Amino acid sequence: MSSEENNKKTSGLTRREFIKDAGIVVGGASVASMALLSACKGDTKTVTQTVSTTVNKTVTKTVTVAEDGVELTDLHVILNGEPRVCHIEANWTLRDALKEGMGVISLKDMCNGCGACGSCSAIVNGRPILTCMALAVECDGAEIETAEHLGVINHPLVNAYAKNFCAQCGYCTPGFLITAKALLDKKPNPTDEDIIDALGGNICRCGTYPQHIIAIKEAAKGGK
Ligand code: FES
Ligand code: FES
Repeated sequence: MSSEENNKKTSGLTRREFIKDAGIVVGGASVASMALLSACKGDTKTVTQTVSTTVNKTVTKTVTVAEDGVELTDLHVILNGEPRVCHIEANWTLRDALKEGMGVISLKDMCNGCGACGSCSAIVNGRPILTCMALAVECDGAEIETAEHLGVINHPLVNAYAKNFCAQCGYCTPGFLITAKALLDKKPNPTDEDIIDALGGNICRCGTYPQHIIAIKEAAKGGK
């Protein structure tokens, strides 16, 4: 029995089914993603998929089903300000697609893709999300920002995090940074409570929590 089947036996739902059914992306259901995943082996199938973005829109996706049954499609996104495209398996999470298809290294995996740690966070259409819990096909056309971009734009969070020792082992840090960026985009002068609330889904095994509050408030003042 595979680990997925084993999980199903105990939870009644496989992870793949959970992601499909929950539609945990940028808000929005996913009838078409089920169509993607139900294409017949050996087929090339065109389906119309509703992609939930900040402004809902409809895109047409072509899914090719390989001989081994793997369903392949493509993903178009704006990643850190640049248009990008990559070929993905139709059931990949956004984290899989960004890491495997586009070489993003800031997306970590502290909880084995269970949606429990925040280390895989990215900003999608202005909102921080857990990329391990979003189907990549449902993010087609999305604007995505990852922690790599903060260095490129010289965001004050980067220096504030370094100066205030927000990283010990550093594994969780990109997830905290991008979540903090989303907070500052929305609330340029957050209170302690705002910060604690925004970072509530981010876990640090090294216990750096108090430092994040100091650093984010410092970054809010331009890094001073
Ligand atoms: S890897 Fe996504 S929340 Fe932990
Ligand atoms: S700094 Fe080590 S997990 Fe957060």
